[in-house]
Parts: sequence; C-alpha cells; structure tokens
Amino acid sequence: MGNLNKYTLVRLDEVDSTNSYALEHISSFDDGTVIYTPHQYMGRGRHNRKWIADDSENIYMSVVLKPQNIDTYPFPNLTQYLSVVLCRLLEDEFNIKPFIKWPNDILVDGCKISGILAEAYTENNKLKAVVLGLGLNVNLSKQTLDLIDQKAVSISVLTGKNYDIDLIVNKLSDYFFKDYSGFVKSGFSYIKDEYIGKCGFLGKNITVRELDYKKHYFAKSIDNEGLLTVIDEFNNECKIITGDVLC
Ligand code: BTN
Repeated sequence: MGNLNKYTLVRLDEVDSTNSYALEHISSFDDGTVIYTPHQYMGRGRHNRKWIADDSENIYMSVVLKPQNIDTYPFPNLTQYLSVVLCRLLEDEFNIKPFIKWPNDILVDGCKISGILAEAYTENNKLKAVVLGLGLNVNLSKQTLDLIDQKAVSISVLTGKNYDIDLIVNKLSDYFFKDYSGFVKSGFSYIKDEYIGKCGFLGKNITVRELDYKKHYFAKSIDNEGLLTVIDEFNNECKIITGDVLC
C-alpha cells in the first residue's frame, strides 16, 4: 500500500449492506476493491442507526483497504479524507456547495446528503483491513427524504435530474484513489486545510451528541489529528473525540 492508485469495482444488483458484505467476504477482496450497489435494504449507519433507502437507485458503496504498515496508517482520519473527496466530487461534477459536519457528514444547506461509516477488520487484535462505507443520496425522492429523522436531501432533488449511479461511482473512485497514497503517506495534514475550509460550523456555538447526552460548546478549531477543539460552558478548552455535531 502507499502507491495504490488502481482499484477494482464489484457491482451487486442488491445487497443487505455493502459494509456487511465486504466484512463477510473480506479475504476474497484485494486492497482497493470498491463494492457497490444501487439497492441496499439493511444499510447500517453510525451509532447503530439505519441508513434509509427506497426503490430509486442510490450509491451504497464500501471500499476495502488493506494497509501494509498499520503503525503509520491514518485510520482515524480515513473518513475525513473520504468526506473531502466527496466534497470535491459534488462541487466539480454537480455544482453543489457542500459542507462537512464533524467528523464526516456531508450537508448541503443544512440537509444531509451523505454519510460515512468506517469499520475495522482485525485478527488477533491487529488491523488487517478497513471497510470504508459511504451512502450518497443520488436519486432518493423527496417523500423518502421526509421520512428521515434529520433534514436530508439528494442530488436529484437539488438539480431536478436523475443520475446513472455507475458513472458516479467510477468518478468517485477515481477521485478517491488519485490522492489516496499521498493521504496514507502524510495523514491528516494532507487534507487539513481543505477539510477546515469545508467545516461550516467553526467559530459558532454548536451542540454535540456524545452517546446519550448532548452538550453545548463553542467550536474553536480542528487540530492536527483532525479532532474538534471546543470551548465548554466553563471556558475550558477540550477535544471532542467521538460524537456528532448536531448544529
Ligand atoms: C451515517 O451517517 O450514519 C453513516 C451511514 C453509512 C451508510 C453506508 S451505505 C453503504 C455502507 N453500507 C452500510 O451498511 N452502511 C454504509
């Protein structure tokens, strides 16, 4: 790994979850395999949430990565790398202006358009592979989006057109693997400025959900490890390691 810029695409007509499928068959996939489907019926989100779908064709994909040097592999920042790549794609190919909600949700005008779920595959407590899953609302209808428990949008609702998901998966994979080896070599610093440029919430008061509780902070900055630095109600500076920025 490190010089990987080729990838293999595996298209499934439908599947319960591309992440589950990738994990179940992990030994049959090489480093750099992109498994995707237009129809996923039991998608999993972060914190055991569901990832919704309807009959329309959307992007449900999982990238299988098999790092060679696990000591230096920037696993904690992988989802942030993918979020930057996705922002590039939305801007360049669809003229859509996305924002990142820490750590890796992609929003357009406050509505979620994509979510990312990275899962580690370990053997004897050693990282052997990563399954980097991404759901992108491409052709999801307004009716389905209204059923989601947070504001959500699709590319089709934003542009008024329907899209071929195979073409988008190809493009997204090109974008991802073009800079992947640079990211693996340099880690978060490789994307830090671009990532920060997309974080619409910095310099604002935010609510963070950590496990079952919510707390209010001032969002100060993103540090060199990609962690969110905040100021709490007692004026203490602290780092958010897990959790979701709600607004
Ligand atoms: C989130 O925002 O909660 C993350 C959602 C990740 C959903 C994608 S869809 C493809 C892949 N397979 C899954 O089951 N989940 C991820």
